[in-house]
Amino acid sequence: MSRTRYALVGAGSRAQMYVSALTGPHADRAALVAMCEPNPTRAQVHADAIAERGFAPPSRWQPDQLEDMIRTERVDRVVICARDDLHAELIVRSLDAGADVVVEKPLTIDAPSAAAIEAAVERTGHDVVLTFNYRYSPRNSALRHIIQDGLIGQVTSIDFSWMLDTSHGADYFRRWHREKKNSGGLLVHKSSHHFDLVNWWIRQTPRRVFASGGLRFYGADNAAARGLGDRPARGTHDGDHDPFELDLRHDPSLSALYLDAEQHDGYLRDLDVFGDGITIEDNLALVVDYSGGATLSYSLNAHAPWEGYRVAVNGTLGRVELDVVERGAVLEGEGLHPVLDPSAVDGRTAASLRPEGERLLLQRHWEEPLEIPIDAGAGGHGGGDALLLADVFVGPGEDPLGRPATWRDGIRSIAVGIAGNRSLETGLPVRTADLGIPLLARDDA
Ligand SMILES: NC(=O)c1ccc[n+]([C@@H]2O[C@H](COP(=O)([O-])OP(=O)(O)OC[C@H]3O[C@@H](n4cnc5c(N)ncnc54)[C@H](O)[C@@H]3O)[C@@H](O)[C@H]2O)c1
Repeated sequence: MSRTRYALVGAGSRAQMYVSALTGPHADRAALVAMCEPNPTRAQVHADAIAERGFAPPSRWQPDQLEDMIRTERVDRVVICARDDLHAELIVRSLDAGADVVVEKPLTIDAPSAAAIEAAVERTGHDVVLTFNYRYSPRNSALRHIIQDGLIGQVTSIDFSWMLDTSHGADYFRRWHREKKNSGGLLVHKSSHHFDLVNWWIRQTPRRVFASGGLRFYGADNAAARGLGDRPARGTHDGDHDPFELDLRHDPSLSALYLDAEQHDGYLRDLDVFGDGITIEDNLALVVDYSGGATLSYSLNAHAPWEGYRVAVNGTLGRVELDVVERGAVLEGEGLHPVLDPSAVDGRTAASLRPEGERLLLQRHWEEPLEIPIDAGAGGHGGGDALLLADVFVGPGEDPLGRPATWRDGIRSIAVGIAGNRSLETGLPVRTADLGIPLLARDDA
């Protein structure tokens, strides 16, 4: 069997998952023949990892050589792991040069570039696969099962809140994500996962979005208002550190990929989360209306003391609730403010009550709640990453859950965030059909 020829486009941290897959479980059917990465140090880190696994290093190319790379190396599929705002141009050029595309979320960050991707797919007939790994988490798949099996009847509304903690959430304020022009803000960069889940769980199309939110915790103005005082511009420095500072020297992988590489492009991975120049929000609330009559109320908080999510789906026959604690507390922050004495909380003794875990409860009208068992897989996202990679590299089989995602799913997921960003700017609700993306106008017809 001849192996499918792959090229990696953008080789930073996310690329590691694909390098591992292409030099590991999927090496028998997929060959990583080329890499397009402008930073020579980062490219070398990946080349070394590939060589260590006993594979020939891929040929190396610059972004302006993308078409040459695809033709010279006879690339069948490119895997795009570059910054979000670069996805669209890289997708369109790859399709036009004759390759199929596998792209990380989000598909892109704004409406004109989404329309350009749609036009390129239709022009070339090539394929774009979105790697929505959250769909593959067993707990998210289990929720889809319940809804698709009709156990709660017709979906009427969804209540969904996502908490990013002061470790993971803070990380979006240290590098390129912190500027909306690079990432579309968290509504596009991060929430596109969540909006895709809702679209997929309830199989309805988002029609109208109203958003409210702002930057209320991170950023220089908030820090000044809270009296935080002068801070170092970045986390890698000598002297005392607080838990919001990321010192790259403490992590060999981050040092190799970013600190040792910054001489080439000035890309800083460890900017102060309380510095200037942040143009994204850290608190967001949305109301979204869907084609089948359901309403979503959604919130995202990026400085929560714990990490996880809560989703409740109401239907004509009952309600299903999924509660997930990914990290119950971030404890390395002791010293930032006085630690609460548990016995002093309102005079009562408090105890930690947030163990990591997940619970899926189905309760139909007139019935007791039932806890629905969730498969526990090994590896990232409860085994979801391995399942996703098998679908991407082996090809999806018959999937009763419909997990493999296309560019259409990519557009429908970012539509909510793009409309939300427009709503934040205007203070008004925004119809997705008015974004200027043909697919969404067709969906609305
Ligand atoms: N699905 C998930 O859970 C998940 C998790 C992490 C990241 N991601 C996505 O993966 C992508 C990459 O994220 P990351 O954290 O690895 O970012 P990164 O900054 O670490 O890596 C991006 C790489 O692209 C390179 N690059 C810059 N300009 C380029 C160009 N014109 N052409 C090709 N490459 C270029 C950079 O030098 C860098 O090495 C993002 O779109 C992000 O949203 C998805």
